[in-house]
Amino acid sequence: MPSYPQENSGLLQIPHAEIQKRIFGHKLFGLDSLQECLFRFCKAVITADKSRIQDFIFYDLVPSILLYGPPNTGKTTLCHLLFDRLKKEVTNEVNFYTIDIGQMLDPALGQSSRNLEKAFEDLRKVCSSGSSAFLVIDELDSFCMSRSRTQEHDAIRRAMTTLILELDRLHPSSTRKLILFGITNVHNLIDTAVVRRFSLKHSVDASLSWNDFCAYIEYLSKPINYVFQEHDLKQLYDGYKRRELKSGDIKAFYKEILIDVICKDEEVSIKDKLFSLFSEGFSTNEHLIKTYGEFVDDRQRISNR
Ligand SMILES: Nc1ncnc2c1ncn2[C@@H]1O[C@H](COP(=O)(O)OP(=O)(O)OP(=O)(O)O)[C@@H](O)[C@H]1O
Ligand SMILES: [Mg+2]
Repeated sequence: MPSYPQENSGLLQIPHAEIQKRIFGHKLFGLDSLQECLFRFCKAVITADKSRIQDFIFYDLVPSILLYGPPNTGKTTLCHLLFDRLKKEVTNEVNFYTIDIGQMLDPALGQSSRNLEKAFEDLRKVCSSGSSAFLVIDELDSFCMSRSRTQEHDAIRRAMTTLILELDRLHPSSTRKLILFGITNVHNLIDTAVVRRFSLKHSVDASLSWNDFCAYIEYLSKPINYVFQEHDLKQLYDGYKRRELKSGDIKAFYKEILIDVICKDEEVSIKDKLFSLFSEGFSTNEHLIKTYGEFVDDRQRISNR
């Protein structure tokens, strides 16, 4: 993967060509208004004139956006698509950065904090030279859980404190060219001090309307040349609703179908396979309920001791 580490702080620049490879042919369904709103906000930030910056300062509005929602709902893809659109439609002078949290976190005393400080320092330098930086911190929960303050390893606790300080340093007048996205699928477990510092907080968990669902199935069925009848689609939509499937679950079903089409000797009935997957295939939501229930039970057991 052609990404470029910068002095081991964990900051990585990912080239536009690499982002384009990751999202090749990708389209998100049921998230149009969120995508449009975030695109307009990022564009307004990057192209802000003096009077718009004064508005930002007046309302303390910094370009920090928290995206939260269950796994498999398109959060990471949304950031990639947004960046690609900004790059194509607004300015070529914007680059994509992310923080490799495994690399940033370092057990040596104070090193995680220094790494994070260094990452932000480097980004500020990039911005002061006229470019814009689109920073995505994915899996924010890996160092910003509320229990980190009291229970976690020192390195994690200090990294979270540094992030809070860095979020405070994002000032509308000085850092308008640094757009920060934080992503998590457990925002209710993230420390409130972190959550409240994000100017925008958006849930990403599309519940597909009938029309969006049909469009999504048509889009996914195209490469395997399959067209569903309306009454079959209705049955699939019932399964989607009943099992509260996530959009990414449906895409994963098509992955299985493609494998069958490629690998099986006998003719595969795409319709039968998809029906069976919609009723028994992996559901992120069902898995989440099961594991989260176990997680809560464990915590209760510990606190009752
Ligand atoms: N609303 C959607 N419409 C179409 N495809 C979607 C949608 N949501 C997710 N997908 C697809 O599902 C897959 C998983 O998406 P993605 O990795 O962006 O989810 P995520 O929310 O970041 O998950 P996690 O929280 O586990 O990191 C991708 O291939 C993406 O294109
Ligand atoms: Mg993700």
